Amino acid sequence: MKKKVFSGVQPSGIPTIGNYIGAMKHFVALQNEYDCTYCIVDQHAITVPQDPKILNERTRGLAALYLAFGIDPVKSIIFIQSEVPAHAQAAWIVQCNTYIGELERMTQFKDKAGKQESVSAALLTYPPLMVADIILYNTNIVPVGEDQKQHMELTRNFVQRFNNKYGAGEDLLVLPEPFIQKEGSRIMSLQEPTSKMSKSDTNKKGYISILDEPKVIMKKIKSAVTDSSGIIEYDKENKPGISNLLTIFSAFSGKTIKELEAEFADSGYGNFKEQLANAVISELEPIQNKYYELLESEELDIILTEGANRASAIANTTLSKMEQAIGLGR
Ligand code: TYM
Repeated sequence: MKKKVFSGVQPSGIPTIGNYIGAMKHFVALQNEYDCTYCIVDQHAITVPQDPKILNERTRGLAALYLAFGIDPVKSIIFIQSEVPAHAQAAWIVQCNTYIGELERMTQFKDKAGKQESVSAALLTYPPLMVADIILYNTNIVPVGEDQKQHMELTRNFVQRFNNKYGAGEDLLVLPEPFIQKEGSRIMSLQEPTSKMSKSDTNKKGYISILDEPKVIMKKIKSAVTDSSGIIEYDKENKPGISNLLTIFSAFSGKTIKELEAEFADSGYGNFKEQLANAVISELEPIQNKYYELLESEELDIILTEGANRASAIANTTLSKMEQAIGLGR
């Protein structure tokens, strides 16, 4: 039997090239070898305040982007989290078997909670919802960026604990593995190359959105922070800006960082940045065109309804198994 892949992206903003390089590019590649399920996790997005109309648009838009990237809805399941109630139901069971101390240790919680005046309870209980997402689909492999590593450890700890407690010697739930690439799993901000590129950054110059127009992409890359040495080489400690640009270039050109260093050995930063922007633009332009076409189509909604039905069938089976194991219902 083929191994199962599951992953999700929050519709909390338009995805950046960080999301693309760290996770979404792999979604497409993995579907040829595995049974894949990809979710638009709108329930995760509401852990921080969202404008309802914008959230709605971004949710449908993210589904269109999944397809525009090349996810094939016949091979893979694409669906919206809130359309499959089993996620919230399973998340409750996960919460009941997770310790508050484990959740308070999550660095993403600490970061996000520190930036807000009022912190919702769900910001703390967000990782159990992610655990639920993963376990419901008997997931073996979870393609994610580096920032999700801690949530994956929590997931693995939960599965082991749940199986020990309720499995009666059997593995009720599948133990998933994170799939985190060595390169590109943490793309940095163009303006502050020591912080992660984020789709919710208030400084728009810090990230490239998948839907940025070519001239915006060119401008943002040209104004990316580098250093004064003028040498194009990978040195994360001392040259975080150029190292980040090399990582991005490698992802968009298929060339290794070593090859790029050799190619641009005699080049200045200006030329390097221009070539990089061209590589990004030529990969994103066809995706953008496809995206705008899909947004207008009814096909998108048919795919999402069908996706929610297919996902529900799998998720409900796992949920029943969990409920039975812990004694819920009759
Ligand atoms: P989210 O929406 O923040 O990000 C989506 C994916 O993009 C990766 N990522 C990055 N990769 C490289 N460089 C970056 N700068 C960068 N920023 C983000 C993230 O690691 C992620 O893989 N909790 C998840 C969504 C989620 C999920 C799940 C993922 C909910 N349930 C179940 C996998 C399985 C999140 O907030 O991703």
